[in-house]
Amino acid sequence: MTRSLVSIEDLDNDEIEAIFELADRFLDEMATPGKPHRVRGRRTLARDFILSTLFYEPSTRTRLSFESAMLRLGGQVISSAEVTSSSAAKGETIADTVRVVENYADIVVIRHSDEGAAQVAADYTDLPVINAGDGGHEHPTQTLCDLYTLRAAHRQKEKDEDLSFKDVTIELRGDLKHGRTVHSLVYALARFGARIIPSHAPGCDLPDHVKQRLARDYGCLLLRKQEIEDLHDDDFPEFVYVTPEGPHQRTLWTGEEADVWFKLSLEQRRKLREMKSVDFFYATRYQKERHEGGVGDEYPAIDAALLKDKRYRQTKVMHPLPRVDELSYDLDEDPRGVYFKQAAYGVPVRMALIASLLELFPSLLSQSRKPRYSLYSNAQGLRCTNGKCVTRQANEARYVIPKFWIVDQQPLTVRCVYCDFEYEPRIVSRSSTKKYTAAIDEWREVYDRSPRDLVLYLNEQEAIDAGHQLRRGRKRPSGKQLPTKTLAGK
Ligand code: NCD
Repeated sequence: MTRSLVSIEDLDNDEIEAIFELADRFLDEMATPGKPHRVRGRRTLARDFILSTLFYEPSTRTRLSFESAMLRLGGQVISSAEVTSSSAAKGETIADTVRVVENYADIVVIRHSDEGAAQVAADYTDLPVINAGDGGHEHPTQTLCDLYTLRAAHRQKEKDEDLSFKDVTIELRGDLKHGRTVHSLVYALARFGARIIPSHAPGCDLPDHVKQRLARDYGCLLLRKQEIEDLHDDDFPEFVYVTPEGPHQRTLWTGEEADVWFKLSLEQRRKLREMKSVDFFYATRYQKERHEGGVGDEYPAIDAALLKDKRYRQTKVMHPLPRVDELSYDLDEDPRGVYFKQAAYGVPVRMALIASLLELFPSLLSQSRKPRYSLYSNAQGLRCTNGKCVTRQANEARYVIPKFWIVDQQPLTVRCVYCDFEYEPRIVSRSSTKKYTAAIDEWREVYDRSPRDLVLYLNEQEAIDAGHQLRRGRKRPSGKQLPTKTLAGK
């Protein structure tokens, strides 16, 4: 079965480690003398293969490092770097583009402004697809480079230990709202057990759906500064996520809503105090192309003066680049600035990823990755309301069928497969009868009998507008239209 990398979730921890070990091998064998992070020369491993890059958004590092990686593996590259020179300018859909390109190449790298675009590409081709950034959603290959940099800068004590960042505290700075590199990174950091301090610029907090997923899928705790009486400290960030040591911590998350407060145990308080010394900064640029307003004066910047602070004296500085004003040039020669190495690692890491997906080392990735949740999908019914989701773009909406993971059953909660927005539908109906009810718990019975018969709506009006009728013998619970419940960020 073809494996793709659309979300960082598509690789499990062992697979990430295996990719890193292969990247180590490339670096060991091909490093530039005196520059152990830089690959040079070429191999012949991928001589029978062609990589195609489809870049609908600007890129320097990502596209060039993919192309360099493929060339250094001995393969060939064909590129469509500018939307104006491709058929997309004529209105071609993502599905058609990949169905054509699959005849010319063996693996596809796509960057697109729509959230979920890479998932659509992967759905419509049998080639491996690599997501090189889909709008403000995810950027999983940057995360591989980030994790590889963290691993190199924070060498495991024992070489044969499993990869873990349990004793690492990382402070994420800047635009956590639209920074797609941050979104993929927080999921991976949570999985590898790091302590994460999101320190966002005003108006640039992590989106609700990212927080919900951190809590739901990885058992992360959401804490708020005001809640922690004895941690009152002006320097302390507004939000803190602590990844669990064990599954028992999930019980602390009692959540009807995302914003639940917790009573902390002494142990958790101790951990929070430990977090005050930060091992890594992960700085990001203000994603001006995805915001409506301009950047304010309060955008956090990192410079040599900040690193004089007691908490930050040992802190290494990462950045996916490009930088604007948030990272001073005065750190470029400082050994704590590791961002150029991070960019250099893009080549060996992407070489290892391409080699894995092309099965040049057959046992590296497992045949398939089992999804975490069951799928609900129906051309009728619930639609994602995120205006940036690929399913909402006129061109793609003509053929893409909405798909949602069923992430909770009580209350029924579904997550858009493409962009991760979550919803609590309130109406259940059937494709076969077009009769709906507000007795939402009935979804299970319909789904168990025939998943394709299930039609969910957010509210009664949507069902009525779609020509469904109230099932006879059932009263509307309140006699009124039910409110719509949308969990994801606006
Ligand atoms: C990032 C991106 O494109 O999201 N760049 C990159 O790939 N290294 C970060 C950014 O553009 O700010």
